[in-house]
Amino acid sequence: MTNSFVVGIDLGTSSVKAVLVDGAARVRAWAESPLPLFVPRAGWSEQNPEDWWSATIEVLRELVTNHPAEFGRVAGLALSGQMHGATFLDSGGSPLRPAILWNDGRSIAECREITRLVGFEQLLHTVGNPALEGFTAPKLLWVRRHEPEIFSRTASVLLPKDFVNMRLTGVYSTEPSDASGTLLFDISRGIWSEEVLTALDLDARLLPSLRGSSEVVGHLTGPAAAATGLAKGLPVTSGGADNACAALAAGVVAPGTILVSIGTSGTVLSPELRPAVEPLGRLHTFCHVLDGCWYGMGVVLSAGGSLRWFRDVVMAGATYEAIAREASSAPAGSDGLVFLPYLSGERTPHADAQARGVFFGLSLGHGRAHLSRAVLEGITFALRDSLDLLRETGLRAAVVRATGGGAASAFWMQLLADVFNLPVAAMPAEGGPAYGAALLAGRGVGLFPRLEELAPAAAGMPPVVSPDPARAEIYDRLYRRYRSLYPALADRFKDAEAVGP
Ligand code: XUL
Repeated sequence: MTNSFVVGIDLGTSSVKAVLVDGAARVRAWAESPLPLFVPRAGWSEQNPEDWWSATIEVLRELVTNHPAEFGRVAGLALSGQMHGATFLDSGGSPLRPAILWNDGRSIAECREITRLVGFEQLLHTVGNPALEGFTAPKLLWVRRHEPEIFSRTASVLLPKDFVNMRLTGVYSTEPSDASGTLLFDISRGIWSEEVLTALDLDARLLPSLRGSSEVVGHLTGPAAAATGLAKGLPVTSGGADNACAALAAGVVAPGTILVSIGTSGTVLSPELRPAVEPLGRLHTFCHVLDGCWYGMGVVLSAGGSLRWFRDVVMAGATYEAIAREASSAPAGSDGLVFLPYLSGERTPHADAQARGVFFGLSLGHGRAHLSRAVLEGITFALRDSLDLLRETGLRAAVVRATGGGAASAFWMQLLADVFNLPVAAMPAEGGPAYGAALLAGRGVGLFPRLEELAPAAAGMPPVVSPDPARAEIYDRLYRRYRSLYPALADRFKDAEAVGP
């Protein structure tokens, strides 16, 4: 078995990534294929499930072609994926419309309806979270109301990675780490909540069966084997939500550890040994991929997403490295320029789908360097909002682990250390959610039975960036200024919606 390999795939928002991992839990190869994102209206966000499937085929084909010998010894596969997205499938498993994603804010009215029908306290008690537009249930209610014809033909709803699992195995299933992001899952009992389904008048038959995150759900079908180049009958393990898989990959599996992930979204999470719901519901509470483990998390909807927008729209497609270089030539605090990264609304701490991005304090003295630095600072301040909420719940951590595309930037990691006033250990690029999924695949097929111990050991402790005390003090002051802007603008964001474009 130790000379076997496993494959982990991460279905992200900007791309699909895959890693080939050996029996000693080392990454031996990886591949990536980009994904298009559609914004049919401000605040909406969709992807085509068929694009997920073709990108998955592409990364697997690339790995199989370049590593034929290793692929002869691949023992299993698992996926991690962007959370919350709803795919609406007909009885043959074909998508009836584009998937509505985690950063889509169209379902404001449906969230109010869910809160009214279930009750705020009851939602926190049962599903661990308040009704937020990004979660899955409000998307179902939106389609039921606005596209009744599609809803009436919907035979099942799957989360993104589970759609790909279904294409690989023919099995409709999910697992706790992703199910807990639907608003329909009882996070303490680990089952679909009959109470919430009944209150929302949703048919439980729309939902897939539940398995463990590291349980084998099925085997590669003939057509999936032909499409991907993998062996027919290969065991496929459930896998998990991207944030949970990233945490597993970074060894963030115990209370007192923190992961900051900077992908399209930005997240700050910390594991818990019970579902400790924040009393006002300002943090999300989801199941981890390990049994008996949950985590509290804050989410910045447009972290890397803001930077990508800035790169494409303002910096005419410059590289991220060039933007970081520009940023490093402006002073800390960008000479008074503040950026609010609410391009697709914000989850933590404002829970406001109508919030929008802002450059505040722009003057004739500001140039590209200031804009670049302000964008990176604004995103990092938004992450600090989540850290402070976790601290309010009693979290004390000596070091922050960072992962995702943002962790590749030395400038950003120093900024994160300064704004958090904590040492930061950046995980290597190949140690992201796809790697976490590969570890789950390994446990599923018996290659990595003691995952709780293996994960922290495999993650190790990458080089640590320390905060600079002088800059940490400056950023503490600037953070307070950043914090003062949203409350001053919250009502204006609502007017903007009413006035229209
Ligand atoms: C978490 C969330 C995002 C997605 C995207 O609640 O919505 O982090 O998982 O990757």
